[in-house]
Amino acid sequence: MEVRLQKVIAASGLASRRKAEEWIAQGRVTINGKIVRELGTRIDPERDHVKVDGRHLKAVEPYAYLLLNKPKGIVSTLNDPEGRPTIEHLLHGVTLRMFPVGRLDFDTEGLMLLTNHGELAQALLHPRYHVAKVYLAKVKGVLTDDEIDQLAQGVNLEDGMTAPATVKKVRKAKENSWLEVTIYEGRKHQVKRMFEAVGHPVLKLKRIRFGPLALGDLLPGEFRYLTDREANTLRGIFQYKQEQEAAGIPPRPIRPQKPVRQAPTGQSARSGERSVRSGGQPTRFPGKPAHPSREPARRPRRPTDSARRPPRRIRRTA
Ligand code: URA
Repeated sequence: MEVRLQKVIAASGLASRRKAEEWIAQGRVTINGKIVRELGTRIDPERDHVKVDGRHLKAVEPYAYLLLNKPKGIVSTLNDPEGRPTIEHLLHGVTLRMFPVGRLDFDTEGLMLLTNHGELAQALLHPRYHVAKVYLAKVKGVLTDDEIDQLAQGVNLEDGMTAPATVKKVRKAKENSWLEVTIYEGRKHQVKRMFEAVGHPVLKLKRIRFGPLALGDLLPGEFRYLTDREANTLRGIFQYKQEQEAAGIPPRPIRPQKPVRQAPTGQSARSGERSVRSGGQPTRFPGKPAHPSREPARRPRRPTDSARRPPRRIRRTA
């Protein structure tokens, strides 16, 4: 079956379709040894040999993106000089070498993105890109509205003022409270230090979103590959920001946002059922689901390249 050339390049994971079109127009793509610049060109991927910059498309390792729910008590790197368990121990069946995009503390759980797309990873970590990271934090005591405002506008840490953040009350327990905090930087222990600065140490921390990605119902220790849509969204953000940078357009400053004051729900901290807004999906609170037997059965997402994906999601129970 014949397919458009840019689609074949994009399907290899090498670039977005738009980028592939640029490459074609720039004369960087050959079919069976001949440069093609015609965007509508169709090829038979079984028969035709496509090269980008002289390299056979199939010889290029495809980009892969994986989302892991890091459990507490695991180091967020691939190896640890102290010999503690690392996220590498969770990645059964993953054959491509992928690297974590950023870190989470040993005692923090939640969403980690891993990829072999180095440039994209660098960009997502760069403060200039303002990638939102959303955490659920259980903190000691109950924050006043003033303390929430301080966090939202920026607090002075030893490495400088924090950029504006969004802080929402989620739930109040007897002596502690849960908050949802969105930050756009990635300093070491940032969330813990921010809460410490207003006198409310963090007791538990879980990352539930990273840019456009949501943890959803992955359990601690589970991972899945990004859907094509998620990967394309990430690549789209990356490409857009790169284009802005190339055009000399400075990033928009992070604007202080009025914290959304939500009345504490008074719901039991154990219910595990109340959701906060998270891309339209309910967010489970840290801890075991209240009713594991009622967890909806989830089918593994259809891989685009089955050769680089494990046959099914891996669940670690240990
Ligand atoms: N902020 C923290 O304090 N710890 C994390 O692991 C992530 C963000």
